[in-house]
Amino acid sequence: MNIQQFRYSRDNLGYLVYSTKEAIAIDAGGVNEILTFAEKNKLFIKYVSNTHSHHDHTSGNNEILEKTSAQFIDCKQLEPDQTLSLDTENIKIIHTPGHTDDSVTFKADDFLVTGDTLFNGTIGNCFSGDLKGFFNSLKQLMSLSKETKIYSGHDYVLDSMKMAKIIEKENPNIEAYIKDYDPRLIVSTLKDELKVNPYIRFNAQSMIKNLEKRNMPTNTEYARFKSIMDIY
Ligand SMILES: [Fe+2]
Repeated sequence: MNIQQFRYSRDNLGYLVYSTKEAIAIDAGGVNEILTFAEKNKLFIKYVSNTHSHHDHTSGNNEILEKTSAQFIDCKQLEPDQTLSLDTENIKIIHTPGHTDDSVTFKADDFLVTGDTLFNGTIGNCFSGDLKGFFNSLKQLMSLSKETKIYSGHDYVLDSMKMAKIIEKENPNIEAYIKDYDPRLIVSTLKDELKVNPYIRFNAQSMIKNLEKRNMPTNTEYARFKSIMDIY
């Protein structure tokens, strides 16, 4: 399976995930660029869907549906572990509520389209109010192969690393992560995220020490996650 990233608005990221001929447009805000890319590569856009129903992610849906014969799949209708087929390949749906109740992650081969659940460098706001659910969603993603690539819903890399430095100024991996930043393609691996993304570093020894120094609860994984979320 292949993936092409499209930047639109200020920092939104949309995607075309495709096999040999068939494609799915996910959070397809940059409609013209997507259609041009599809045409150039002789791709048939079979589906249009979203990582969640926030307007900045769904804004391109109608236009792309009008201009193609794609079928719309409402993310609210996607079942956990459901698969979507493109040619002979599959995309798996992982339910990842937390940012919103209807947040999903699309998994194909070695990459994820995570929307506003897991960003490169940070995580989304917990608008659902269900912090435990959000934690479980992140844990589910963290259990995947560490080489898994993360394609997220926004480019928040530089601001995220400013925050990461505030939380863990002693973390030596942050500078290298900033150095690798290229606005033309925003992608990282789960392994990279576990080194720098403070919100999923609740099992890192240095983070645990950091929380202890601040007298924050550290007795369970979830307590540490909540402590990090409570700091910022
Ligand atoms: Fe969102």
